[in-house]
Amino acid sequence: MRDFDNNGGHMMFGGMRAFDIAERFGTPVYVTDENILRENYRRIYNAFSAYMGTRIHYACKANSSLALLSILEKEGSFIDAVSVGEVRTCMKAGFPASRILYTGTAVSDRELKEVADLGVPVNIDSVSELERLAKIRTDIPISFRITPGVGSGHNAKVVTGSKGSKFGVPADIAVRTYGRALELGFRPVGIHAHIGSGGQAAEPFMEAVDVLIELTNEIKDEYDLDLEFIDMGGGIGVPYRPNEPEADIEELASVITDMILSGTDVRTIAVEPGRYIVCDSTILLTRCNDVKNAGIKNYIGVDAGFNTLIRPAFYDSYHHVAIANKFNKACEGKYDVVGPICETGDHIARDRALPTPEEGDVIAVYNAGAYGFAMSSTYNSRPRCREVLVNNGSAELIRDHETEEDLWRYQIVPKRLR
Ligand code: LLP
Repeated sequence: MRDFDNNGGHMMFGGMRAFDIAERFGTPVYVTDENILRENYRRIYNAFSAYMGTRIHYACKANSSLALLSILEKEGSFIDAVSVGEVRTCMKAGFPASRILYTGTAVSDRELKEVADLGVPVNIDSVSELERLAKIRTDIPISFRITPGVGSGHNAKVVTGSKGSKFGVPADIAVRTYGRALELGFRPVGIHAHIGSGGQAAEPFMEAVDVLIELTNEIKDEYDLDLEFIDMGGGIGVPYRPNEPEADIEELASVITDMILSGTDVRTIAVEPGRYIVCDSTILLTRCNDVKNAGIKNYIGVDAGFNTLIRPAFYDSYHHVAIANKFNKACEGKYDVVGPICETGDHIARDRALPTPEEGDVIAVYNAGAYGFAMSSTYNSRPRCREVLVNNGSAELIRDHETEEDLWRYQIVPKRLR
């Protein structure tokens, strides 16, 4: 887990005191360090491109803020998009259609047409989608998402590659599905699998790539079709706990690219990391409103609940927390950090050793960049919070908080009820 410097009892983030950022922009607030974001992108790009042609398709579902997308666009990233909304958001941030790969599931004809008409390559999820796309147009690059029969992930809710999954074309009908695509007038250019999210071990990635390699060669033998890329999906985990080891990205890249280079004629790999690129680039700052001793438990009541960060409530995910303005103080008790949502499941952290908290303290929640803001909601009629970008000691607002007006904007009360 990435930790941060202490300066006179203050947590430093992007060259600034986290406490000062909270004072200036209010809380809750997501804060991203631009340098970490760029560093993460470069590390994974360099790891794979040392061996073969590499396209890093940032999985923008993890965080689709325009400022972050603009940074990654300038780094040369490609995009994994799962909806036409994500496609258009990335285009707004400057990505050309050719650097986006659309991988939808349960896709409507209308969305398929919108995506295809934008000229975005489509990674097809089912035979039904193939047949429906053929009726719309066949002059765009396509690939297929294959269900490799191997899954991995930090929680059962995010495992995608297992046999019987709702995602992808089953591996045993993959070859003939490429045949059908050729019959329909398409020229498939790639093959893809995504096993799940947040796995640390290399083996499931290797097993899935093995399946893709075998299929690539069968497709070549059967139809004399050379695929341009193998896409190994995303899902590379990051450490959320202190002392948890990191995935060895250099080793993973070396093993996977060696398998592809020695096992096929394919010379380009696509990788779709979301979490790996944004997760530790961002912290969530939240203010301590309330301190409670409930007899058998101590609570720190903060202004971020599962409306702001849903991962602890939804997946039981661990997010490290620290008191940003007591960064060098000894831990004196154990606390649950809980939010303002009226549900018992509204917790950010459980049983954490922390210095004695006081009202007004600022709590930093680590690793909040992936699926943090992106999964936030307005539950309990709390407008979504701000996002800030920091860079070498200066901070800029990149998303303002919503207002109550925004909550009401699209609602209509019939005249007879007014
Ligand atoms: N490619 C595809 C096709 C995906 O479905 C996903 C994530 C990714 C790439 C990126 O996976 P990553 O590298 O970020 O693990 N909300 C959950 C994670 C859901 C992931 C969904 N698909 C969480 O907060 O852990």
